Amino acid sequence: MRLVDSHAHLDFPQFDADREVVIERAREAGLVAILNVGTDLASSRAAGALADRYDFIYAAVGVHPHDAKTVTPAVLEDLRELARHPKVVAIGEIGLDYYRDLSPRPVQRRVFAQQLALAAELGLPVVVHSREAHDDVLAALQDWQGGGGVLHSYSGGPERLEEVMALGFSIGLSGPVTFRKAHRLRAVAAAAPLDRLLVETDCPYLTPVPYRGRRNEPAYVRYVAEAVARARGVSVEDVARATTENARRLFDWMSNKP
Ligand code: NI
Repeated sequence: MRLVDSHAHLDFPQFDADREVVIERAREAGLVAILNVGTDLASSRAAGALADRYDFIYAAVGVHPHDAKTVTPAVLEDLRELARHPKVVAIGEIGLDYYRDLSPRPVQRRVFAQQLALAAELGLPVVVHSREAHDDVLAALQDWQGGGGVLHSYSGGPERLEEVMALGFSIGLSGPVTFRKAHRLRAVAAAAPLDRLLVETDCPYLTPVPYRGRRNEPAYVRYVAEAVARARGVSVEDVARATTENARRLFDWMSNKP
């Protein structure tokens, strides 16, 4: 079974002690690609460095809404430079987070728009974080002239799916879809078109059952795929095949950039 973890943070300090072992376990578990997603300038740089070291690791570069307040024109210039790396396949993670509000909302909106514009200019898809901000996120994507992307760890519920699909976006499902009480997420897993679904870990966070409460890692993406398969009443092989192909199509792993 070939799987893709479409959202990981392997550069985070939680993996400092055993990063190589974790990456080897991912390979043994059948992962054919991992998208390591930057959250600020340093982590975007680290994502590119990891992609240099491992053939099946790719990178997204961007500044998370939590850190929007750190973004200056110079930071955007550095991101543009980092995005030229041949294994940078997306801008992310970018978006809006009105749950934790770690940066002022107007600043989050400005920085989201700036990074959306950068992605459109570079012809890259986006990895979007949206937490309790779905109205503003979808409005920003509505106005965007770029080439698609994914709403990662999708939390918009089944009722927003139609809008997301109309925008041409995919959704990423993660560990919470395995949680006993996550009926809404399983409804999303059942209702989303199979060609718009990605699976992800968001490791080290959002660990799926049966490892909930411990550190997450890319190999556990299979538990997410299994939960999606159960929700849809199909085989996990079908979900693996579709989500792996969807990720390849969206992130265009093999293309060579000029
Ligand atoms: Ni993330």
